[in-house]
Amino acid sequence: MLVLGIESSCDETAAALVNDKKQILSSTVLSQSEHKAFGGVVPEIAARAHLEHIDEIIEETFRKAALSPSAIDAVAAAAGPGLIGGVAVGVMAGKALALALDKPFIAVNHLEGHALTARLTSDVNYPYLLLLTSGGHCQILIVHDVGCFTRLGTTIDDAAGEAFDKVAKMLGLGYPGGPLIEKAAALGDENRFVLPRPLYNSPDCNLSFSGLKTAVRKIIESYSEDDIIEHAILPEKDLADICASFQKAVTDCLVHKLQKAVHTFRNTCPNGRDVVVAGGVAANTYLRAHLKQMAESQGLIFSAPPISLCTDNGVMIAWAGVERALKGMFNTLDFKPRPRWPLDENAPKAAGAGGVKA
Ligand code: KG4
Ligand code: ZN
Repeated sequence: MLVLGIESSCDETAAALVNDKKQILSSTVLSQSEHKAFGGVVPEIAARAHLEHIDEIIEETFRKAALSPSAIDAVAAAAGPGLIGGVAVGVMAGKALALALDKPFIAVNHLEGHALTARLTSDVNYPYLLLLTSGGHCQILIVHDVGCFTRLGTTIDDAAGEAFDKVAKMLGLGYPGGPLIEKAAALGDENRFVLPRPLYNSPDCNLSFSGLKTAVRKIIESYSEDDIIEHAILPEKDLADICASFQKAVTDCLVHKLQKAVHTFRNTCPNGRDVVVAGGVAANTYLRAHLKQMAESQGLIFSAPPISLCTDNGVMIAWAGVERALKGMFNTLDFKPRPRWPLDENAPKAAGAGGVKA
Protein backbone atom coordinates (compact mmCIF):
# COMPACT_ATOMS: atom_id res chain seq x y z
CA MET A 1 0.00 0.00 0.00
CA LEU A 2 1.68 3.21 -1.20
CA VAL A 3 0.05 6.57 -0.46
CA LEU A 4 0.84 10.10 -1.61
CA GLY A 5 0.16 12.61 1.21
CA ILE A 6 -0.41 16.32 0.58
CA GLU A 7 -0.25 19.00 3.31
CA SER A 8 -1.20 22.67 2.85
CA SER A 9 -3.27 23.66 5.87
CA CYS A 10 -1.00 26.35 7.33
CA ASP A 11 2.33 27.67 6.04
CA GLU A 12 4.03 24.50 4.82
CA THR A 13 3.44 23.18 1.31
CA ALA A 14 4.41 19.53 1.58
CA ALA A 15 4.07 16.11 -0.01
CA ALA A 16 5.38 12.63 0.78
CA LEU A 17 5.21 9.01 -0.31
CA VAL A 18 4.81 6.47 2.50
CA ASN A 19 3.96 2.77 2.37
CA ASP A 20 2.42 0.28 4.78
CA LYS A 21 5.87 -1.16 5.58
CA LYS A 22 6.49 2.12 7.42
CA GLN A 23 8.93 3.31 4.75
CA ILE A 24 9.14 6.99 3.84
CA LEU A 25 10.05 6.85 0.15
CA SER A 26 10.36 10.62 -0.19
CA SER A 27 9.29 13.80 1.54
CA THR A 28 9.33 17.42 0.41
CA VAL A 29 8.52 20.40 2.64
CA LEU A 30 8.50 24.02 1.57
CA SER A 31 8.18 26.38 4.55
CA GLN A 32 6.77 29.68 3.36
CA SER A 33 9.16 32.48 4.30
CA GLU A 34 6.70 35.17 3.16
CA HIS A 35 5.18 35.43 6.65
CA LYS A 36 8.33 36.28 8.61
CA ALA A 37 7.88 40.02 8.12
CA PHE A 38 4.40 39.83 9.66
CA GLY A 39 5.29 37.77 12.76
CA GLY A 40 2.52 35.29 11.94
CA VAL A 41 0.81 33.51 9.06
CA VAL A 42 -1.17 35.75 6.67
CA PRO A 43 -3.95 33.48 5.27
CA GLU A 44 -4.25 35.13 1.85
CA ILE A 45 -0.49 35.09 1.27
CA ALA A 46 -0.36 31.46 2.41
CA ALA A 47 -3.11 30.35 0.01
CA ARG A 48 -1.42 32.04 -2.95
CA ALA A 49 1.96 30.55 -2.08
CA HIS A 50 0.44 27.04 -1.79
CA LEU A 51 -1.18 27.45 -5.21
CA GLU A 52 2.08 28.61 -6.74
CA HIS A 53 4.16 25.69 -5.41
CA ILE A 54 1.92 22.66 -4.92
CA ASP A 55 2.47 21.12 -8.37
CA GLU A 56 6.26 21.37 -8.22
CA ILE A 57 6.32 19.97 -4.66
CA ILE A 58 4.29 16.91 -5.73
CA GLU A 59 6.43 16.43 -8.87
CA GLU A 60 9.62 16.67 -6.84
CA THR A 61 8.29 14.12 -4.35
CA PHE A 62 7.74 11.55 -7.12
CA ARG A 63 11.10 12.45 -8.74
CA LYS A 64 13.05 11.91 -5.49
CA ALA A 65 11.44 8.48 -5.02
CA ALA A 66 12.08 7.64 -8.70
CA LEU A 67 8.43 6.62 -8.99
CA SER A 68 5.72 7.52 -11.44
CA PRO A 69 2.32 8.68 -10.10
CA SER A 70 0.74 5.46 -11.35
CA ALA A 71 2.72 3.56 -8.67
CA ILE A 72 0.54 4.85 -5.82
CA ASP A 73 -2.55 3.11 -4.43
CA ALA A 74 -4.30 6.21 -3.04
CA VAL A 75 -4.02 9.99 -2.65
CA ALA A 76 -4.43 11.53 0.82
CA ALA A 77 -4.76 15.28 1.39
CA ALA A 78 -5.13 17.27 4.61
CA ALA A 79 -8.74 18.46 4.30
CA GLY A 80 -8.89 20.52 7.51
CA PRO A 81 -8.86 21.97 10.08
CA GLY A 82 -6.76 24.93 8.96
CA LEU A 83 -6.67 28.04 6.83
CA ILE A 84 -9.37 27.25 4.32
CA GLY A 85 -7.66 28.84 1.30
CA GLY A 86 -4.60 26.64 1.75
CA VAL A 87 -6.59 23.51 2.61
CA ALA A 88 -8.64 23.96 -0.57
CA VAL A 89 -5.45 24.08 -2.67
CA GLY A 90 -4.16 20.75 -1.32
CA VAL A 91 -7.56 19.07 -1.50
CA MET A 92 -8.09 20.19 -5.10
CA ALA A 93 -4.63 18.94 -6.09
CA GLY A 94 -5.29 15.61 -4.37
CA LYS A 95 -8.71 15.13 -5.91
CA ALA A 96 -7.42 16.04 -9.39
CA LEU A 97 -4.63 13.46 -9.10
CA ALA A 98 -6.97 10.80 -7.75
CA LEU A 99 -9.39 11.41 -10.59
CA ALA A 100 -6.70 11.44 -13.29
CA LEU A 101 -5.03 8.28 -11.93
CA ASP A 102 -8.32 6.55 -11.09
CA LYS A 103 -7.13 5.98 -7.48
CA PRO A 104 -9.11 6.43 -4.26
CA PHE A 105 -9.04 9.77 -2.44
CA ILE A 106 -8.63 10.10 1.36
CA ALA A 107 -9.54 13.28 3.24
CA VAL A 108 -7.23 13.37 6.27
CA ASN A 109 -7.82 15.46 9.38
CA HIS A 110 -4.57 17.42 9.83
CA LEU A 111 -4.70 16.73 13.58
CA GLU A 112 -5.07 13.01 12.96
CA GLY A 113 -1.93 13.27 10.82
CA HIS A 114 -0.02 14.66 13.82
CA ALA A 115 -1.70 12.16 16.15
CA LEU A 116 -0.72 9.02 14.22
CA THR A 117 2.85 9.93 13.17
CA ALA A 118 4.40 8.29 16.23
CA ARG A 119 2.94 4.96 15.04
CA LEU A 120 4.97 5.32 11.84
CA THR A 121 8.25 6.11 13.60
CA SER A 122 7.93 4.12 16.86
CA ASP A 123 6.24 0.98 18.08
CA VAL A 124 3.10 2.67 19.46
CA ASN A 125 -0.09 0.64 19.86
CA TYR A 126 -3.73 1.66 20.25
CA PRO A 127 -5.03 2.87 22.64
CA TYR A 128 -2.58 5.58 23.68
CA LEU A 129 -2.59 8.87 25.54
CA LEU A 130 -1.72 11.85 23.34
CA LEU A 131 -0.66 15.42 23.98
CA LEU A 132 -1.28 17.22 20.70
CA THR A 133 0.35 20.63 20.85
CA SER A 134 0.75 22.82 17.77
CA GLY A 135 0.29 26.41 16.65
CA GLY A 136 -3.48 26.16 16.47
CA HIS A 137 -4.37 23.36 18.90
CA CYS A 138 -3.46 22.11 22.35
CA GLN A 139 -5.38 19.03 23.43
CA ILE A 140 -5.03 15.89 25.51
CA LEU A 141 -6.72 12.89 23.92
CA ILE A 142 -7.05 9.15 24.12
CA VAL A 143 -6.40 7.69 20.67
CA HIS A 144 -8.49 4.50 20.52
CA ASP A 145 -8.05 3.84 16.80
CA VAL A 146 -7.98 5.60 13.41
CA GLY A 147 -10.73 8.22 13.52
CA CYS A 148 -11.62 7.38 17.12
CA PHE A 149 -10.54 9.86 19.79
CA THR A 150 -11.72 10.90 23.26
CA ARG A 151 -10.73 14.41 24.25
CA LEU A 152 -9.80 14.75 27.92
CA GLY A 153 -8.74 18.38 27.89
CA THR A 154 -8.08 21.39 25.70
CA THR A 155 -6.80 24.94 25.92
CA ILE A 156 -9.53 27.40 26.76
CA ASP A 157 -7.71 30.24 24.97
CA ASP A 158 -4.34 30.24 23.15
CA ALA A 159 -2.61 27.09 21.94
CA ALA A 160 0.88 26.54 23.38
CA GLY A 161 2.51 27.13 19.97
CA GLU A 162 0.53 30.34 19.58
CA ALA A 163 1.85 31.50 22.98
CA PHE A 164 5.44 30.71 21.89
CA ASP A 165 4.85 32.69 18.69
CA LYS A 166 3.27 35.69 20.45
CA VAL A 167 5.95 35.87 23.15
CA ALA A 168 8.69 35.62 20.50
CA LYS A 169 7.06 38.47 18.61
CA MET A 170 6.93 40.63 21.78
CA LEU A 171 10.62 39.92 22.35
CA GLY A 172 11.50 40.84 18.77
CA LEU A 173 12.79 37.33 18.04
CA GLY A 174 10.87 36.59 14.82
CA TYR A 175 8.61 33.84 13.47
CA PRO A 176 8.02 30.96 14.08
CA GLY A 177 8.67 31.67 17.73
CA GLY A 178 9.02 28.19 19.24
CA PRO A 179 12.48 27.27 17.92
CA LEU A 180 13.79 30.83 18.56
CA ILE A 181 12.59 30.82 22.18
CA GLU A 182 14.03 27.33 22.71
CA LYS A 183 17.42 28.50 21.38
CA ALA A 184 17.49 31.63 23.55
CA ALA A 185 16.23 29.66 26.59
CA ALA A 186 19.21 27.29 26.40
CA LEU A 187 21.42 30.10 27.74
CA GLY A 188 18.94 31.38 30.33
CA ASP A 189 18.04 30.92 33.98
CA GLU A 190 14.60 29.29 34.07
CA ASN A 191 14.06 30.30 37.72
CA ARG A 192 14.79 34.00 37.26
CA PHE A 193 11.25 35.21 36.49
CA VAL A 194 8.21 34.04 38.42
CA LEU A 195 5.45 33.40 35.89
CA PRO A 196 1.90 32.09 36.43
CA ARG A 197 0.78 28.53 35.61
CA PRO A 198 -2.85 29.20 34.54
CA LEU A 199 -5.39 26.46 35.42
CA TYR A 200 -2.62 24.45 37.12
CA ASN A 201 -4.85 23.62 40.07
CA SER A 202 -8.12 23.16 38.19
CA PRO A 203 -9.49 19.64 38.63
CA ASP A 204 -9.83 19.01 34.87
CA CYS A 205 -7.22 18.50 32.12
CA ASN A 206 -7.83 21.89 30.47
CA LEU A 207 -5.05 24.36 29.76
CA SER A 208 -4.70 28.12 29.35
CA PHE A 209 -1.78 30.21 28.08
CA SER A 210 -3.22 33.67 27.57
CA GLY A 211 -2.44 34.90 31.11
CA LEU A 212 1.11 33.60 30.87
CA LYS A 213 1.63 35.59 27.70
CA THR A 214 0.26 38.71 29.41
CA ALA A 215 2.62 38.18 32.36
CA VAL A 216 5.58 38.14 29.94
CA ARG A 217 4.27 41.32 28.31
CA LYS A 218 4.21 43.05 31.71
CA ILE A 219 7.84 42.09 32.36
CA ILE A 220 8.88 43.47 28.98
CA GLU A 221 6.96 46.69 29.63
CA SER A 222 8.71 47.11 32.98
CA TYR A 223 12.03 47.77 31.23
CA SER A 224 12.94 51.43 30.85
CA GLU A 225 14.38 52.79 27.60
CA ASP A 226 17.87 52.74 29.13
CA ASP A 227 17.77 48.98 29.43
CA ILE A 228 16.99 48.51 25.77
CA ILE A 229 20.02 47.83 23.64
CA GLU A 230 20.44 47.95 19.89
CA HIS A 231 18.89 45.16 17.73
CA ALA A 232 17.13 43.58 20.69
CA ILE A 233 14.26 44.74 22.83
CA LEU A 234 15.92 43.52 26.04
CA PRO A 235 19.48 42.96 27.24
CA GLU A 236 20.64 39.53 26.03
CA LYS A 237 20.86 37.91 29.46
CA ASP A 238 17.37 39.08 30.45
CA LEU A 239 15.96 37.91 27.14
CA ALA A 240 17.44 34.43 27.68
CA ASP A 241 16.11 34.32 31.25
CA ILE A 242 12.60 35.32 30.15
CA CYS A 243 12.63 32.69 27.39
CA ALA A 244 13.82 29.99 29.81
CA SER A 245 11.27 30.98 32.47
CA PHE A 246 8.47 31.04 29.87
CA GLN A 247 9.46 27.67 28.40
CA LYS A 248 9.54 26.17 31.90
CA ALA A 249 6.09 27.57 32.73
CA VAL A 250 4.54 26.14 29.53
CA THR A 251 6.27 22.80 30.13
CA ASP A 252 5.13 22.63 33.78
CA CYS A 253 1.49 23.15 32.68
CA LEU A 254 1.64 20.57 29.88
CA VAL A 255 3.42 17.93 31.99
CA HIS A 256 1.09 18.45 34.95
CA LYS A 257 -2.13 18.20 32.93
CA LEU A 258 -0.86 15.19 30.99
CA GLN A 259 -0.01 13.51 34.29
CA LYS A 260 -3.58 14.19 35.43
CA ALA A 261 -4.86 12.62 32.22
CA VAL A 262 -2.83 9.43 32.89
CA HIS A 263 -5.32 8.61 35.66
CA THR A 264 -8.35 8.80 33.31
CA PHE A 265 -6.41 6.94 30.62
CA ARG A 266 -5.68 4.08 33.03
CA ASN A 267 -9.32 3.83 34.11
CA THR A 268 -10.61 4.01 30.54
CA CYS A 269 -7.97 1.82 28.88
CA PRO A 270 -6.36 -0.52 31.43
CA ASN A 271 -4.26 -2.15 28.69
CA GLY A 272 -2.92 1.14 27.28
CA ARG A 273 0.85 1.53 27.73
CA ASP A 274 1.93 4.41 25.48
CA VAL A 275 2.12 8.17 25.94
CA VAL A 276 2.79 10.28 22.83
CA VAL A 277 3.45 13.96 22.17
CA ALA A 278 2.86 15.36 18.69
CA GLY A 279 2.48 18.66 16.80
CA GLY A 280 4.92 21.50 16.22
CA VAL A 281 5.58 22.22 19.91
CA ALA A 282 6.62 18.56 20.33
CA ALA A 283 9.82 19.60 18.52
CA ASN A 284 10.88 21.28 21.77
CA THR A 285 13.59 19.11 23.34
CA TYR A 286 13.12 20.58 26.84
CA LEU A 287 9.42 19.68 26.75
CA ARG A 288 10.13 16.20 25.32
CA ALA A 289 12.61 15.43 28.10
CA HIS A 290 10.17 16.44 30.85
CA LEU A 291 7.25 14.56 29.31
CA LYS A 292 9.41 11.44 28.97
CA GLN A 293 10.41 11.66 32.63
CA MET A 294 6.77 11.99 33.72
CA ALA A 295 5.51 9.14 31.49
CA GLU A 296 8.25 6.79 32.64
CA SER A 297 7.63 7.67 36.30
CA GLN A 298 4.04 6.45 35.67
CA GLY A 299 5.30 3.17 34.17
CA LEU A 300 4.28 4.17 30.64
CA ILE A 301 6.30 4.20 27.42
CA PHE A 302 6.96 7.65 25.96
CA SER A 303 7.24 8.28 22.21
CA ALA A 304 7.53 11.37 20.06
CA PRO A 305 8.03 11.64 16.30
CA PRO A 306 11.53 12.71 15.19
CA ILE A 307 11.83 16.49 15.43
CA SER A 308 11.59 16.95 11.64
CA LEU A 309 8.18 15.22 11.66
CA CYS A 310 6.70 17.29 14.51
CA THR A 311 6.08 20.44 12.50
CA ASP A 312 3.79 20.19 9.47
CA ASN A 313 4.88 17.77 6.75
CA GLY A 314 3.49 15.48 4.06
CA VAL A 315 4.65 12.26 5.76
CA MET A 316 2.06 12.56 8.53
CA ILE A 317 -0.76 12.93 6.00
CA ALA A 318 0.52 10.05 3.88
CA TRP A 319 0.82 7.79 6.95
CA ALA A 320 -2.69 8.65 8.19
CA GLY A 321 -3.73 7.88 4.60
CA VAL A 322 -2.03 4.46 4.81
CA GLU A 323 -3.80 3.66 8.09
CA ARG A 324 -7.15 4.74 6.64
CA ALA A 325 -6.61 2.92 3.33
CA LEU A 326 -5.81 -0.33 5.17
CA LYS A 327 -9.24 -0.05 6.77
CA GLY A 328 -10.98 0.89 3.51
CA MET A 329 -11.75 4.38 4.82
CA PHE A 330 -11.91 6.34 1.55
CA ASN A 331 -13.77 9.53 0.65
CA THR A 332 -15.72 10.60 -2.39
CA LEU A 333 -14.50 13.44 -4.58
CA ASP A 334 -17.24 15.76 -3.32
CA PHE A 335 -15.66 15.89 0.19
CA LYS A 336 -15.67 19.56 1.23
CA PRO A 337 -12.58 21.03 2.95
CA ARG A 338 -13.34 21.76 6.62
CA PRO A 339 -11.93 24.88 8.35
CA ARG A 340 -13.08 23.37 11.67
CA TRP A 341 -12.90 19.62 12.23
CA PRO A 342 -12.78 18.37 15.83
CA LEU A 343 -10.96 15.07 16.23
CA ASP A 344 -13.45 13.79 18.76
CA GLU A 345 -16.59 13.81 16.64
CA ASN A 346 -18.40 10.54 17.49
CA ALA A 347 -16.09 10.09 20.48
CA PRO A 348 -16.41 7.28 23.00
CA LYS A 349 -16.72 8.57 26.58
CA ALA A 350 -13.76 8.39 28.97
CA ALA A 351 -14.21 6.74 32.35
CA GLY A 352 -15.04 9.40 34.90
CA ALA A 353 -14.28 12.25 32.46
CA GLY A 354 -16.56 15.21 32.43
CA GLY A 355 -16.61 18.91 31.93
CA VAL A 356 -14.47 18.96 28.78
CA LYS A 357 -15.07 22.18 26.92
CA ALA A 358 -16.25 21.94 23.32
O1 KG4 B 1 2.14 21.64 13.88
P1 KG4 B 1 2.68 22.92 13.39
O2 KG4 B 1 3.83 22.89 12.41
O3 KG4 B 1 1.55 23.78 12.71
C1 KG4 B 1 0.24 23.78 13.18
O4 KG4 B 1 -0.47 22.79 12.89
O5 KG4 B 1 -0.08 24.73 13.92
O6 KG4 B 1 3.08 23.77 14.67
C2 KG4 B 1 3.66 25.02 14.55
C3 KG4 B 1 3.89 25.57 15.94
C4 KG4 B 1 4.33 27.02 15.95
O7 KG4 B 1 3.55 27.71 16.90
C5 KG4 B 1 5.78 26.93 16.38
O8 KG4 B 1 6.24 28.06 17.10
C6 KG4 B 1 5.76 25.71 17.26
O9 KG4 B 1 4.92 24.81 16.60
N1 KG4 B 1 7.10 25.12 17.40
C7 KG4 B 1 7.77 25.04 18.57
C8 KG4 B 1 9.05 24.50 18.28
N2 KG4 B 1 9.11 24.25 16.94
C9 KG4 B 1 7.90 24.63 16.42
N3 KG4 B 1 7.41 25.41 19.82
C10 KG4 B 1 8.31 25.23 20.81
N4 KG4 B 1 9.57 24.74 20.61
C11 KG4 B 1 9.96 24.37 19.36
N5 KG4 B 1 11.21 23.88 19.17
ZN1 ZN C 1 0.13 21.04 12.35
